[in-house]
Amino acid sequence: MAKVVVFGGTGYTGAGIVREALARGHEVVSVSRSQPSEPVPGVQYEVGSAEQLAPRVVPGADAIVATLAPRGDMAGRLVEVYGELATLSAQAGARYLQVGGFSSLRPAPDAPRFVEGEVPEEYRTEALEGEATRILLAERAPAELDWVFVSPAGSYGAWAPGERTGTYRVGGEVALFDADGGSSISGADFAAAVVDEIEAPAHHRAHIGVAY
Ligand SMILES: NC(=O)c1ccc[n+]([C@@H]2O[C@H](COP(=O)([O-])OP(=O)(O)OC[C@H]3O[C@@H](n4cnc5c(N)ncnc54)[C@H](OP(=O)(O)O)[C@@H]3O)[C@@H](O)[C@H]2O)c1
Repeated sequence: MAKVVVFGGTGYTGAGIVREALARGHEVVSVSRSQPSEPVPGVQYEVGSAEQLAPRVVPGADAIVATLAPRGDMAGRLVEVYGELATLSAQAGARYLQVGGFSSLRPAPDAPRFVEGEVPEEYRTEALEGEATRILLAERAPAELDWVFVSPAGSYGAWAPGERTGTYRVGGEVALFDADGGSSISGADFAAAVVDEIEAPAHHRAHIGVAY
């Protein structure tokens, strides 16, 4: 059993990971600024900002999962906050899994990342900030930090929760597409992929993508 701390554990991504990790018998701590609307029995909910709570909840953890979103008053703040989580995770000897965006992937091995090209206006700001958090890890992570940056499929999000299928594929920084050219993953299958990576670490200081 691992102690897993999920920053943003009441959000779309975080709550799925919290539920999956708890169901597999792990000790789970969730951090968010508001109380969960539907608390899951057995989860330790810590209410406050990530910045305030991290120095207390990161030490002693086996895995830290970062699933905050750069929206509202967090717009423009994710790199600063994730930098702190990465530093604390390194000091604690905890694995650090940071969820970012699809746009940080590449369409082909030597092609520019999607975020470097045309990104729909409604996603552009979030895509750029997600990419900045990838660069944070790729270029400035503490040398001893065992990190993974996880990009979900293009059709992933609260607007498309989907169903648990029990299957998923893990790629590198080149996006995976299904036979019809689509890119999707349900919330439950994405959460399973993240918890699988916690239980059986297969990627180290790496950018991975999860999709069908
Ligand atoms: N297809 C894609 O590429 C795609 C789609 C969706 C999401 N994503 C990415 O996945 C990540 C998570 O997105 P999401 O949609 O799951 O987010 P979300 O549902 O908005 O959840 C964000 C969580 O973070 C918490 N939070 C935010 N700021 C915080 C702070 N300062 N301290 C503590 N808790 C804080 C929120 O709770 P409180 O507000 O109560 O604090 C909430 O629990 C983002 O990086 C997003 O860009 C990618």
